[in-house]
Amino acid sequence: MRALPDIRGLKYPDEFIARHFFKRGLHQKRGRVVELGGGTGNNLSLYAAYGWNLTNVDYSAAALADCRWNLGEAVTLIEADLSKGLPDLGDEAIDVLLIPNLLCYLTNTQASAMLTAARAHLAPGAEVFVRTRLIDDYRCGKGVEEEPNGWRLATPETGEAGLFNLFYTEEGLVRRLVDELGLVETTALKVSFDNIQNGVRVAPNSDLVVWGATA
Ligand SMILES: C[S@@+](CC[C@H](N)C(=O)[O-])C[C@H]1O[C@@H](n2cnc3c(N)ncnc32)[C@H](O)[C@@H]1O
Repeated sequence: MRALPDIRGLKYPDEFIARHFFKRGLHQKRGRVVELGGGTGNNLSLYAAYGWNLTNVDYSAAALADCRWNLGEAVTLIEADLSKGLPDLGDEAIDVLLIPNLLCYLTNTQASAMLTAARAHLAPGAEVFVRTRLIDDYRCGKGVEEEPNGWRLATPETGEAGLFNLFYTEEGLVRRLVDELGLVETTALKVSFDNIQNGVRVAPNSDLVVWGATA
């Protein structure tokens, strides 16, 4: 692991990734953690510090190269576009599945295919963490609607113009995770915050964090 000034990309784990990690006692366990859309490895860095076996799936070769720089040989990197389905994750069961800030980029059909495929890889009692945008987020409704609550964004101020974003209802996200990933217990936390991006007040950012476990 690199010293903080040498880390490329985001320096810190998502704060709710950290809450989930400690509240669920994952600092006292070891196993295999897989992050879908893990970017430069900021979230996996927490698991790396505690000796977990790490896998990062992302479609950005540049982000994965930075992840290799940040986390070294300890991380398995899989370059894949998750909108096209789940790549081969190998035979080892997943003890913790992280899906933070990724689901919004997938259509309803793509998300369903990815989650349903991921379910087959989860160990009994596997922990799952998901964070994604809700329908009361600032961006929802700005652009062209391509499917219910799915927008091709026209928000240059957030750097996401032209990107597809699907926004969830709280109930819809939890139902999806129960039905498609097989979660039997869930905790849902709403996260709302204001931000300034490119000089524009972006408010509210509205996310739902859901964590839970399989049977
Ligand atoms: C907003 S960043 C989140 C990074 C990290 N998970 C976090 O929570 O800080 C979204 C990440 O998902 C990746 N991503 C977006 N769409 C993807 C897709 N269709 N397939 C694979 N990765 C994707 C991006 O390359 C990026 O690294």
